Amino acid sequence: MDMHIPLGGKELSLAVFVSGSGTNLQALIDRAESGQLRAKIEVVVSDRADAYGIERAKRHGIPAFVVNYADYINRCATRAEAYRAAEMEILEILERFEVDYVCLAGFMRLVSPSFLQCFRDGLVYRVLNIHPALLPSFPGMHGYEDTFSYGCKWGGVTVHFVDEGEDTGPIIAQAVYPIWPDDTIEVVRQRGLSLEYELYAQVVNWIASGFVRAIKKGRRTICHVTDPKYSLIIRNLVEKAMNACSVH
Ligand code: GAR
Repeated sequence: MDMHIPLGGKELSLAVFVSGSGTNLQALIDRAESGQLRAKIEVVVSDRADAYGIERAKRHGIPAFVVNYADYINRCATRAEAYRAAEMEILEILERFEVDYVCLAGFMRLVSPSFLQCFRDGLVYRVLNIHPALLPSFPGMHGYEDTFSYGCKWGGVTVHFVDEGEDTGPIIAQAVYPIWPDDTIEVVRQRGLSLEYELYAQVVNWIASGFVRAIKKGRRTICHVTDPKYSLIIRNLVEKAMNACSVH
């Protein structure tokens, strides 16, 4: 399967991949339903049968599929083989839908280079990820815990194109929130998640509007958002995160 479309310039068709509660998925669904998202969520895929995100999709009439990675891992000789088989199943599902972009939204699996190749578009792959930390700090599965336990005074969230590494792909947008002295990890997580919901939708809209450019700088691919309102929008997001805790 080889899909070639321009990076943006139209309403996007999305596949959203989840592993857990799916609050980011819910935020995208809500924005799509209220006309605030220049995208349609065509299909939801989870690697786990117990992911609540599947339930959320079904409630909104979105086709939802479980590709049981654990089963493949039990059945296959190696993890790589298991992932290959699971990804084949995912690609077969996606072929039934016209999907421009895959949005990882709390999907706790790496995607393989051969999966990514199916979404190649010039310098990037049309696969997005939301990460709960200010990359390149704190990659991996515990962005909020790592940020908090390190003693950071600001946390951040990142939306990036996925590449072959773990949380190493070209950064599209980031926003930060304060961490105050008496905050708990749960307060920090909630503050960050609210920012995730806004930033992910914003990035989808920027891509759909053709506002995201990728250029090669040395060995790196660098992204720029060309929306004239870019700095205003980011400033507003950060200010909102500040005001959410103005008691301090
Ligand atoms: C979100 O915080 C997301 O950024 C994170 O998992 C959470 C999923 O929450 N993703 C990662 O850590 C990926 N490395 P959700 O299921 O409620 O959207």
